[in-house]
Order: sequence, then structure tokens, then C-alpha cells
Amino acid sequence: MELRFPVGFLWGAATAAHQVEGNNTNSDFWLMEQLEGSMFMEPSGIAVDHYRLYKGDIGMLAGLGLNAYRFSIEWARIEPEEGRFDESAIEHYRDMLVACRVYGVTPIVTLHHFTSPQWLIRAGGWESAETPMRFARYCEYVMRKLGEFIPYSCTINEANMPLAITKIMKRHQLSESVAQVGLNTEIKKKMETYQAELSKSFGLPYDRIHPFLSPLSEKGIENVFRAHTEARAAIRKSSPQTKVGITLSLYDIQSVPGGEAHAEKAMQEEFLQFIPYLKDDDFFGLQNYTRMVYGPDGMLPVPADAEKTQMGYEFYPQGLEAVIRYVAKHLGLPIIVTENGIATDDDDRRIAFIDRALAGVHACIADGIPVKGYMHWSLLDNFEWQLGFSKRFGLVAVDRATQRRIPKPSAFHLGRIARANALITN
Ligand code: BGC
Repeated sequence: MELRFPVGFLWGAATAAHQVEGNNTNSDFWLMEQLEGSMFMEPSGIAVDHYRLYKGDIGMLAGLGLNAYRFSIEWARIEPEEGRFDESAIEHYRDMLVACRVYGVTPIVTLHHFTSPQWLIRAGGWESAETPMRFARYCEYVMRKLGEFIPYSCTINEANMPLAITKIMKRHQLSESVAQVGLNTEIKKKMETYQAELSKSFGLPYDRIHPFLSPLSEKGIENVFRAHTEARAAIRKSSPQTKVGITLSLYDIQSVPGGEAHAEKAMQEEFLQFIPYLKDDDFFGLQNYTRMVYGPDGMLPVPADAEKTQMGYEFYPQGLEAVIRYVAKHLGLPIIVTENGIATDDDDRRIAFIDRALAGVHACIADGIPVKGYMHWSLLDNFEWQLGFSKRFGLVAVDRATQRRIPKPSAFHLGRIARANALITN
């Protein structure tokens, strides 16, 4: 039996500009992908050519039965040089928004999804105290031009990710010095080459290059959240009807006896400490992929017998429900699940993942938690950052030689659930 969701529930899928559009040549990632010694398995290149094929893609999403599409606008396209705004890029995104309207799809538009313009990095990147103002200026411009078409906007995708990266790097350095192991010489050489190349291409010493996904100082992390509040004010001013939120990446944090304090600390660091910046938003964008379990000595490895996704983490769709409940307890905002998904070549497991995740969303709604939508990550198999095109999160496969789209059974499955619910009117 199909689960009944509230009328008007947003059923959708998500993408991010750099992962799908292709030829995002003015972004910092584009540069980082091309350099010798790059940490990227392959460059994004033409990606899945969504910049050209967006109309068909939005039509396909609607044809599947979905009624919402979360995508991002690329800052480096809108403002390729500081203060120079490119009208043709605005026209492009207007066309996308019009296509959504034509197909009856509600757009949820992200303004920053990991990538930044190269000029921003040259100007100090996310460590610069000017970055919040620069980001708000770009958001203001976009909303002045396109706000009438944008009902929901997410300022920054996974704004807590720089903190997570900073913690991982610290842990890594610590364990290295404790164990007194150096990196293997080949990797070390590769890293040195990369750092020298990076420094040359940005014209800055390596330690002054601060993209979004890099370890940041406390000030840098504060800049990210100030960028959110300043952008929120700018968006509200230039497009008052657009609802504004942020998105955070949240694990279902659990503990075994003795690990409670670690788990509490993790929740405090990854979520609770940011509430003051978010509490005046119009909604909360919740992103969850798996759980994380703490024991007395810290984070526990994925259990040996657990099913793993292509990303190496645990298949754990029930985590979504737990995270929604946790967020709702601490933040009185409507929630949109802006990302949830699984990298796998076994589409049956994607279907199972979706079913369990949606059962959790449904249970939360039944308990009165205002969950307004579910955006599956991702609409298309795409460029999974450092891991290149090797990880498959899509509801729809892409033959990259021809750019042909091939919906998987999971796409029809999610679409069918959405459609069945669209027929319910009371
Ligand atoms: C990001 C996406 C990414 C996905 C899967 C999220 O952290 O927002 O850009 O592709 O996870 O790893």
C-alpha cells in the first residue's frame, strides 16, 4: 500500500551546477581539477551537459511524476569577474526556471554548492571577512533578476562541511604524528606538486588559498554562516516572496555505552552551535546519507557485516527519520529534505533505500513534524567531486558518450509514489 503524504508535498530530485552542467571554467574547482598532481580522479569536463540539456532533463523529471527540482546557480557564471555580472548566464537560469514553470515543477534553487568563482579565491576565499558581503551581493543580483520565479532558495549547501573537513584534517594530522608515520613518498610528492601548481595558478602562497571545501579557521567558519545571514537579508530585500533556508549535512549520530559524550559533542559541533544563524530562516534544508556511531574512544568503524554503499559508508536509510526528529526537537522550522540518496550500481538497493527513507519521513509527518518535501540525490549520475564519475547516485543513468538519459527503475518507483500522492486531494 502506498503511503499517503500531505497534499502539496514536494517530490523531487536534486543536482548541483558543477556536478552536471559542464564547462564551468571560471570556478575554483575547474582549476583544481586540471592541475598536475590533482586530487581529482578526473576533471568535470562537459559533465552530463546539463547546461545544454536542461529542458529535456526537467521535462523528464516531470514526466516521471516528480513535482520539484533542486538545482544550483553557479556564482562563477553569474559573476565571472568581481563586479562584472553576465546577463547571458542570468538568461540561462531564467530559461531553466521558465522550463520548471512550464512543466509544473517547483524549483528549489541553491546559490552556492561547494564551488566559488576563481576571483573569490584570489581575493582570500572563505577566510576573507569580505566574502559574506560579496556572496550577499551576488545573491541580491540573482534575486533581483530571477526572484519572481524562485519560491525556495538555499543560500549555502552543507554550510557545516568546512567544519567537518577541518576536523578530519586535524584528526589525520594528529594520528599521523602520534603514529609517527609519514605519508608514503609517492603521495607526498604528488601533494607537493599539486600545492606548487595551485599556488602558481592562484598567484598565492598555498596556505592562503581557501576554497569552500578546505580546512578553515574559526573566523573562516564564521564567514560561511555570516554569508548565510547576509545573503538571507539580501534575498528578503530583493525578493520578499522567496523563502530562504540553508542546508546542512547531518549524520544520524548514535552512541554505544561509553560513547554518549562524543556523540553529544559531535551534534553540538555539527548542528546545535549553528542554530543562532538559522533560527530566523523560512525552512531548514536537511541532508542525510548514513549514520555515525561513537564509542568510548570516538567514532566506530562501519561494522564488518554491514551493507556498504559505493562511498564506503553504511547503507542506513533509517537515519533520515532519526535526523528529522532530532532537528525538529531543536529547531522549529519547516523541513525540506534537500538531499538523501545512495551511490550504488544495484538499483534494487536504491529502491529499498528510498522506501525506508520515505517510511521515516511519513512517520515524522504523522507525528506532526512539518516536513514539506523530499529531494532525492540525485536526478542524474554525475560528477562526484574528487571521485569523478565513478560513483552512481542517479535515479537516471547517463551514457556520457552520447549524453543519453536512461531512467532507472528507481526513478519510475519514486515517480509512481509521487504521482499516487498527487492524486490524493483530501
Ligand atoms: C553533496 C553533493 C554530493 C553528495 C554525495 C552531498 O554532500 O551536497 O554535492 O554529491 O553529498 O556525496
